[in-house]
Amino acid sequence: MSADSLSVLPTPSLLVDQQLMAANIQRMNQQLEQLGAPLRPHLKTCKNIEIARAMLAGHPGGCTVSTLAEADYFFEHGIDDVLYAVGIAPGKLAAVADRIKAGMKLSIILDQEATAEAVVEAARHHDCRFQVLLEIDADGARAGFVPDEPELLNAAMKLQNGGVDVAGVMVHAGGSYACLSHEAIKAMAETERQSAVKAAEHLRSQGLDCPVISVGSTPTALRAGTLVGVTEVRAGVYVFQDLVMAGLGVCREKDIAVSVLTEVIGHRKSRGEVLIDAGWMALSRDRGTASQDRDRGYGLVRDSDGTDLGEIIVRATNQEHGIVGLADGSALNLADFPIGRRLRVLPNHACATAGQHSGYWLTNPIDAPRKLKRCHGW
Ligand SMILES: Cc1ncc(COP(=O)(O)O)c(C=O)c1O
Repeated sequence: MSADSLSVLPTPSLLVDQQLMAANIQRMNQQLEQLGAPLRPHLKTCKNIEIARAMLAGHPGGCTVSTLAEADYFFEHGIDDVLYAVGIAPGKLAAVADRIKAGMKLSIILDQEATAEAVVEAARHHDCRFQVLLEIDADGARAGFVPDEPELLNAAMKLQNGGVDVAGVMVHAGGSYACLSHEAIKAMAETERQSAVKAAEHLRSQGLDCPVISVGSTPTALRAGTLVGVTEVRAGVYVFQDLVMAGLGVCREKDIAVSVLTEVIGHRKSRGEVLIDAGWMALSRDRGTASQDRDRGYGLVRDSDGTDLGEIIVRATNQEHGIVGLADGSALNLADFPIGRRLRVLPNHACATAGQHSGYWLTNPIDAPRKLKRCHGW
């Protein structure tokens, strides 16, 4: 997209650089092809069917989602194999049953014996055959059965005996987002793989089929050395990448395909800071780089065409204002940032920033502005 066509877009706007996105998709595909595991992309990052189709190309066609609204949206657009990868709330089981009856091949996950009991009860009540993946905890980061504890097998047996299909196991090594080196991420990827494979072997040894072994996050998928035994990988943020991923070293800042277009609206002369019309509503409140080596505030500032401007960050935000300054606290030369100058902000967390917007403006190579809608809500 030329600077001229960018200048007609409203601000703040969410931009997607199509060439960078295509390169990110290709990189993940090459990695997984090399390791022999198919992708079940997590579509919570893009929440858009055109981008989803680009992510799904060359893979079996199943997707991962984080809301039932995403499941409905992608099903309406022809994707019927959907893993809803948030521990199922018993209050959602009637809605899950409705979708299965409507033809969606919807799988759910759980990590509590009490939830397994609720699923069995709902299966009877709704006369519905639920497909369940048992979530395994690889790293203590969030959720999952502890593989060696009896609750895992108890839950699996309750499900099977109650007419529910135990489709397999899934692991998400969220601890990878806090790893400090390539080696640590690689080791986390191996822990993720081994916990999933071992849990599945344990269940299989007890007579459960457990055909699916599902693992993944962007850092572990990109750094894994082997995926032996794994039947599918879930990754989502790789499609855009972001500053947190760059801070982890799993991408470069120049790979980040999503950004927020904004305009200079004021100067804070005494502090050498610039005000922009992108605050936390446009950037999100995510501060994911705060715990990394380089804290990027609420985002890293680039020129409107993406050109590197150095260490200029959004230091603070109000609802619709961003306060931009040099990362080291020194004063900007305000003459370089006249009122009306357009800039881009690279996000800390692509999912969070994109979630603030109703759609994307495609850049590079499209010259006529075109907006892709995102689905939203739960
Ligand atoms: C269960 C699950 N699987 C896969 C992913 C994808 O990970 P990433 O966003 O690092 O690509 C997530 C992300 O939060 C997740 O929660």
